[in-house]
Amino acid sequence: MIDLRSDTVTKPTPGMLAAMAAAEVGDEQMREDPTTNELQRRTAKLLGHEAALFLPTATMANQAALRVLSTPGCKVVAEERTHVLIYEWGGPAIHSGLVMQGLVADAGRPTPEQIEEVDELGTGSVVVLENTHRSSGGRIWPLEEFRAAADAARARGAAVHLDGARLFNASVAAGIAPAQWGALADTVTVCFSKGLGCPLGAILAGSAETIERAWQGKFLFGGALRQSGIAAAAMLYALDHHVERLADDHARARRLAEGIGIDPATVETNFVPIPDEPGLRERLLEQGVGVGGLRPGRLRAVTHLDIGDEEIEQAIERMQEVVGVHA
Ligand SMILES: Cc1ncc(COP(=O)(O)O)c(C=O)c1O
Repeated sequence: MIDLRSDTVTKPTPGMLAAMAAAEVGDEQMREDPTTNELQRRTAKLLGHEAALFLPTATMANQAALRVLSTPGCKVVAEERTHVLIYEWGGPAIHSGLVMQGLVADAGRPTPEQIEEVDELGTGSVVVLENTHRSSGGRIWPLEEFRAAADAARARGAAVHLDGARLFNASVAAGIAPAQWGALADTVTVCFSKGLGCPLGAILAGSAETIERAWQGKFLFGGALRQSGIAAAAMLYALDHHVERLADDHARARRLAEGIGIDPATVETNFVPIPDEPGLRERLLEQGVGVGGLRPGRLRAVTHLDIGDEEIEQAIERMQEVVGVHA
């Protein structure tokens, strides 16, 4: 099967496995894992913050961030189809006692006016901005629009969390350093098990004081590990070898879109949105192409490290028969 369901299906490369095998390790909970410490130092800087914390998943990083930034009974506000609102099993309500409010917004980007109008938004609440935005098809927040939304949240007294699970995709596609978006938020999540090709791992970045307090969430959620340097080594390897190449994933996504008759202008990063119809996913699977769900009425084909030019051309051939070039 040509697996375009998600960029999370990648397997570690031989180079990454070698880096993991050679990792210098120690007890992370004692803050003695040198490779994890190095990863945290490096990513803090990359994301425009003083400090960073390694966590096993981006979900845990998001939840740890909300816990540290919020007060129970206050709100988490985000576009209605953000990961934190609909794919984290009510975590903001369960772990942090937050009222979860979704905003309907074009391309996953609530406007400053929408944020200004949210009732009961104030100190103790958090506005989450997702970049790239998953459910709109990997769309990118233009920097100035992002700044205006963050400013609007701050003006209301709320904190700002950036769910940048795929922030490196945004960065490579837009030619903007991750720190530019990162520094505009109080905390930033980045996921390493998606386009960056790691088997696990995420980072939460913020001020030294915020990250110190986020350790509580790391323990509470069971994410305080021991020799985590094995994973951190893969993540450092990915920073060195798998960031720039995201441009190839984006080019392949555009090529795939063109090949199956989807407007390539709708493809900003590594997701190709495909209009859904009953049985389409199954018919594609019969042709040997796996696609995933994007949102109601849309499927997604996602390019990643394990998909080369040859797979894209084959996928186009197989998908044309089902999707048709006029999709
Ligand atoms: C935007 C976004 N945030 C967070 C996550 C959670 O990542 P993880 O699976 O590492 O918990 C995902 C995963 O798909 C995502 O798309």
